[in-house]
Amino acid sequence: MMEKKTVILAIESSCDDTSSAVIVDGILRSNVTASQKVHEEYGGVVPELASRAHQQNILPVVDTALKRAGVTKDEISAIAFTRGPGLLGSLLVGTSFAKGLALALNVPLIDVNHLQGHVLAHFISDQASAESRKPQFPFLCLLVSGGNSQIVLVKAYNDMQIIGQTIDDAAGEAFDKCAKVLGLPYPGGPHIDRLAKLGDPNKYPFAKPNIPNYDYSFSGLKTSFLYTLRDMLKEYGVETIDELAERVPNLREDMCASLQTTVVDILMRKLKKAANDLHIRQVAVAGGVSANSALRQAFVDYGERYHWEVFIPPFSYTTDNAAMVCQAGYFKYLDHDFCAIDEVPYAKTTI
Ligand code: KG4
Repeated sequence: MMEKKTVILAIESSCDDTSSAVIVDGILRSNVTASQKVHEEYGGVVPELASRAHQQNILPVVDTALKRAGVTKDEISAIAFTRGPGLLGSLLVGTSFAKGLALALNVPLIDVNHLQGHVLAHFISDQASAESRKPQFPFLCLLVSGGNSQIVLVKAYNDMQIIGQTIDDAAGEAFDKCAKVLGLPYPGGPHIDRLAKLGDPNKYPFAKPNIPNYDYSFSGLKTSFLYTLRDMLKEYGVETIDELAERVPNLREDMCASLQTTVVDILMRKLKKAANDLHIRQVAVAGGVSANSALRQAFVDYGERYHWEVFIPPFSYTTDNAAMVCQAGYFKYLDHDFCAIDEVPYAKTTI
């Protein structure tokens, strides 16, 4: 008789991406994401619009994930869902859908911490990466996204400790807010990355924070960025960034390159301090900002210089995705670590 397959269906809806993924016997078979364009014109995510878009997207996204994985709903062994942190309205859509489907199919439910999911993205085995290196515990993970900038000591898949974190803005938030000031679309991070390639990283020396231990701060850098522009507007006697850009050649490109270099330097210095102090040589990066090309290059450079073994996720697993939630759910499934059907989502939580 054929042995029964372990099929985990995952749902991610913590912010503005509706995503669903399927893992069959430890191998990722599908990862489907519907990104919400509706927020672009507002320059940031509008929570109410995000919830409504999740409601529209969730059924087709889950259906597509199952079809692409080549499994039917009757084969599902358990359903994993992002319980938090995130936008409560968005989380409620995914949580309620997961509960309803788990009840209907009579399968266990697995709650996943979104931040742990980002870290565990390094363990995803898809067709291309099944044989690839995976980090060994304990390792350090720099978790950088729109809402977080943390150095995490990962002792086991379910035992993580934040040893440093931002005391104000997150790195992604700093990118997004500075991009907005430059008149770039939301989210600004990818646009900064693109323009930075054409600019001089040493043109504008921005303030770097002096924060103790392994903590970060990005609000001073943001202010320094803003004041640099404000002073130039005054100097050239103009009112808008567009007018300034006409007078200062390569303005946006140089501002982006200088900002990116500063952010990456701030992130890497603290990470190096933590790796040295804890004598850890396995260092990973995760979260949306890990898509940044300068940060990825810095990992490669630090790896060579300080003999780190570095782990950089494929682009598809950097921003919010259900594949990472599915991987976290798969680990919990193997431990029979299920949650009750009446669990509620949480907007704020730590790792
Ligand atoms: O993890 P994530 O998808 O979700 C949230 O935290 O909501 O991270 C999104 C963040 C945004 O701030 C976005 O601007 C940033 O990741 N981001 C980038 C790049 N791609 C995405 N920042 C810098 N360079 C990029 N290439």
